[in-house]
Amino acid sequence: MVKMPPDVRETLEKQKPIPIATASKDGVPNVVFVGLLKVVDDETLMLADNFFCKTAANLIENPKISILCYNSETKKSFQIKGSAMVCKEGLNFDEMRKWVHGINPKLPAKACVMVNVEEIYNAMWGPAAGEKLV
Ligand SMILES: Cc1cc2nc3c(=O)[nH]c(=O)nc-3n(C[C@H](O)[C@H](O)[C@H](O)COP(=O)(O)O)c2cc1C
Repeated sequence: MVKMPPDVRETLEKQKPIPIATASKDGVPNVVFVGLLKVVDDETLMLADNFFCKTAANLIENPKISILCYNSETKKSFQIKGSAMVCKEGLNFDEMRKWVHGINPKLPAKACVMVNVEEIYNAMWGPAAGEKLV
């Protein structure tokens, strides 16, 4: 696991929705928008699975996940790679349900996806594009 620098955390927290990419075990890619993403701490993100279909199936087969963020004011963009754990019970699940139902009690809040941040890359255009930050 790696720690997100403050500018990565801030860029993620300000963006909505955020594109999330997963892949099947055969490597078929899939990208979706997620509005409900919370930074738990510098190493951990929480996603709310309300409507995941292919995303949920992919995470059962392959825990790898990639997340992209961009801030047009600061001109910063980051690509985060990590591993996801899907929880359908327990403290994190209860926390996710409380968070999601505080926003909208009608949302299904099916599962909580905890992401351990493993790598962060610069995704801004320019000479540093693609450089690994941590
Ligand atoms: C603006 C926006 C925000 C969304 N936020 C979420 C979310 O927080 N959680 C969720 O489960 N689905 C969310 N969705 C739905 C997913 O993007 C997607 O439709 C769903 O995961 C089904 O696609 P899949 O079969 O590829 O997983 C959102 C869609 C949009 C357009």
